[in-house]
Amino acid sequence: MKKIIIAIDGYSSGGKSTFAKAVAAKLGYIFIDTGAMYRAVTLYAMRQGIADDPAAITAALPGIRIDFRFNPQTGRSDVYLNGENVETEIRRIDVSNRVSSVSSIPEVRAKLVAMQQEMGRAKGVVMDGRDIGTVVFPDAELKIFMTADPRVRAERRYKELTAKGETVSMEEIERNIRERDRQDETREVSPLRRAADAVLLDNSRMTVEQQMEWIDEQLERFG
Ligand code: DC
Repeated sequence: MKKIIIAIDGYSSGGKSTFAKAVAAKLGYIFIDTGAMYRAVTLYAMRQGIADDPAAITAALPGIRIDFRFNPQTGRSDVYLNGENVETEIRRIDVSNRVSSVSSIPEVRAKLVAMQQEMGRAKGVVMDGRDIGTVVFPDAELKIFMTADPRVRAERRYKELTAKGETVSMEEIERNIRERDRQDETREVSPLRRAADAVLLDNSRMTVEQQMEWIDEQLERFG
């Protein structure tokens, strides 16, 4: 099969990255979690005490370096912020609570979108985010829009976070998910939107195995 770009967009905690990772592993493609990049910028801003100051964040952008490095222990790529592995820290709920506002800053988006386009230049990538099929790669060969019931998504995130030892309540997580959905859909720059040519995948009641069968059907048209 000729190398293609697979763009996966959808709501937060919708199982996008689990699905995208599995698709990338199956095809031998590179997986790029663009949410991790927005989270890394947010973490940087929080550490500097400028998370509520878009002008200061914009001014700080040239000093923010983000890259992904393969972790042989987990078999996955971790995100690095100015050379430091921040993969665990960026998943914290306080980062989740601020990432929508940081990712609505146009200059932040411009910088990260340009990086993402460069990462996908050679194709053979599965990229997940909110604007991959609409803005980053409007010509992607395969676009997928993932949805799942907000309650199902909250349960998944709750299990993930409590397994890592975070003390959070289901209510807090559900509130965070609904609020992020609202912010992601209503922001002015690159709102979350299903591209006209994206195929819909509602995985509320699907196992990962069933999702892999579904992707096999989608890939048939690429030979
Ligand atoms: O996928 P995630 O939940 O880790 O993403 C974190 C936040 O980053 C999410 O609330 C919206 C933002 N985001 C974005 O604006 N554009 C992307 N391509 C990916 C994520």
